[in-house]
Amino acid sequence: MIWEIWQYLNTPTALHYAKPMGFVKESIAMAARAKRCQTTWQPHYQACQDAILEIAELCEEKRKVLIFGAGSLQDIPLDALSELFDQVLLVDLVFLPDARNQAAAYTNVQLIEYDVTESLDDLYHGNHYVAIPKRWLNDFGVDLVVSLNLMTQLPLMPVKWLESHFQLDEVEADDLGQMLMAAHLHYLQQFSEHADSRDNPLICLISDRWVQRFDKNGQLIKEFDPWGDVLKPETQKEWDWQIMPLGEASRHYSQVNRVGVSIL
Ligand SMILES: C[S@@+](CC[C@H](N)C(=O)[O-])C[C@H]1O[C@@H](n2cnc3c(N)ncnc32)[C@H](O)[C@@H]1O
Repeated sequence: MIWEIWQYLNTPTALHYAKPMGFVKESIAMAARAKRCQTTWQPHYQACQDAILEIAELCEEKRKVLIFGAGSLQDIPLDALSELFDQVLLVDLVFLPDARNQAAAYTNVQLIEYDVTESLDDLYHGNHYVAIPKRWLNDFGVDLVVSLNLMTQLPLMPVKWLESHFQLDEVEADDLGQMLMAAHLHYLQQFSEHADSRDNPLICLISDRWVQRFDKNGQLIKEFDPWGDVLKPETQKEWDWQIMPLGEASRHYSQVNRVGVSIL
């Protein structure tokens, strides 16, 4: 608990809504979960790193790589990307002190606190407005874009905030979540549409695509699609992430997320 409080107090935030909307608390909780579940999460982190490196090797030019949802940096092959690319831009709402220390070891790695939905300021004020994100679309030096375990997380905190502060109902919550995810997919796709043929960046989406819960006897008790009605692009590769071993979120069930890699 003291460690959690220390991190909260020692995490600077450039975005005024990051603390009130709960993003800093959530990042700290996720870091604690990652520590507790180190053994079951490691294969997932490794699979993410391998997938990013495979696609990075395919880039004809290696000027800038842009990673959305960088968070703890544990699923990023930072050494290799820093060697391969001139610039590594890591984007998230929150970077805890540990991620800041890791990034500081590289001269060409930059942490950027930014809302990839470009909607959070409005949502914080209770306006149900979902923007069409634009930043970096005209940066023709970007050769690789990665959305990293971020897609299905986009609705969670904004919906919680609006439910508790602005009486968002269930239907509105579902609609908003779907709009945020669809807008993110559209944003990623726009990178190749904006580029001219000489500067076509590669775009990689790594995201969970199916969630399964099992009781303590290993029987499937629930499964759902975290994308809802948003059309999922095809995957090149998939694996299971043992995200909640029995006892982590509940004594009664464990959870496995199917994660997929898509090249857009
Ligand atoms: C499941 S975590 C994955 C983070 C990191 N890839 C890892 O495994 O540690 C999702 C990340 O998305 C970030 N995030 C959520 N909404 C965001 C937004 N609108 N803009 C930028 N980052 C966001 C969170 O802060 C969090 O770090």
